[in-house]
Amino acid sequence: MVGHEGGRILVTGALGQIGTDLVQSLRDIHGSETVIATDIREKQGHPCIENGPYTNLDVLDKDKIFKLVVEKEIRIIYHLAAILSAKCEENSDLCEMINLEGTRNILDAAREFNLRIFAPSSIAVFGPDTPRKAPQITPLNPTTKYGMTKVDCEILGMIYFEKYGVDVRGIRYPGLISWKSPVSGGTTDYAVDIFHAALSEKSTYDCFLNAQTRLPMMYMDDAIRATISLMDEPIESLSSSRCGYNISGVSFTPEELVFEINKKLPNFVCKYKPDIRQNYADSWPDSIDDQISRNDWNWQSRFDLESIVNEMITNLK
Ligand code: NAD
Ligand code: SER
Repeated sequence: MVGHEGGRILVTGALGQIGTDLVQSLRDIHGSETVIATDIREKQGHPCIENGPYTNLDVLDKDKIFKLVVEKEIRIIYHLAAILSAKCEENSDLCEMINLEGTRNILDAAREFNLRIFAPSSIAVFGPDTPRKAPQITPLNPTTKYGMTKVDCEILGMIYFEKYGVDVRGIRYPGLISWKSPVSGGTTDYAVDIFHAALSEKSTYDCFLNAQTRLPMMYMDDAIRATISLMDEPIESLSSSRCGYNISGVSFTPEELVFEINKKLPNFVCKYKPDIRQNYADSWPDSIDDQISRNDWNWQSRFDLESIVNEMITNLK
């Protein structure tokens, strides 16, 4: 037997923003051959394909999921395949199919083969009635289709845990900021795109949110550390928040981000041209109360806004 707890790890949606970083970290810890990256698309030269095993997998193809789990002796699935907020609002049928049916297929495989599952949630589970600093336990009334699918996935995870004993774990990620992968389809994407624009020849950016839109955000290194640490935690430590733990990183507005970037790149200019994504952002909280994650599994973020800006500019240069 190879790898983690006598089996291999499978990552769905591995070529996306989180997968690009997560697969590398998991391979560093467990060895390349132990971590099978999968996605619906092929992307030549992508590090997840170049640096270890890669297989095409559509998470709607339940038979192939089951076959892969058996053939590759999978014990853990990090299920990252999904459609993000802005894209979900454009195509709600596709959003429902991939986010809900895809997750149900993964949970069915977990039930059949006794797997541990990481299924990420999002700050999009909150709605306009959530307090500006979102508590862990609060009514979840999202107004976006994306947020609704994330609430449904948290509930589905809890049902599989309570009814069938499936070990499902999840985090309500804030908007994630990283440099290894391009981003698309999300509402918090501006906080990644802005760095690419700032370092471009023109050094200007048209921001699709207004200057004062405060949102919870996090640097990818913190998110990856949180993910792996939650998955390594003994099952007894986890509480009824297990399928959607709040975690807090930083909270800032586009204006505050620009102010920080200007300290390094004084010629950079940002213009504000809000589009439909402003509505989604306005329905989300400003910041996150993560006391329960701190208590249950000792979570604590490390990166503040200044260090995120330093990291992004240094690495993208
Ligand atoms: P992403 O859009 O960058 O990547 C998703 C990947 O899923 C893509 O590579 C895509 O090709 C793949 N995919 C789409 N449909 C598929 C299918 N049918 N079968 C297999 N793969 C498919 O997304 P991400 O940012 O890496 O997000 C991963 C997870 O984290 C999602 O559940 C998302 O909702 C959640 N999340 C992300 C953020 C963030 O800021 N990135 C914040 C909160 C929650
Ligand atoms: N960052 C994600 C998005 O904007 C939130 O889950 O869609």
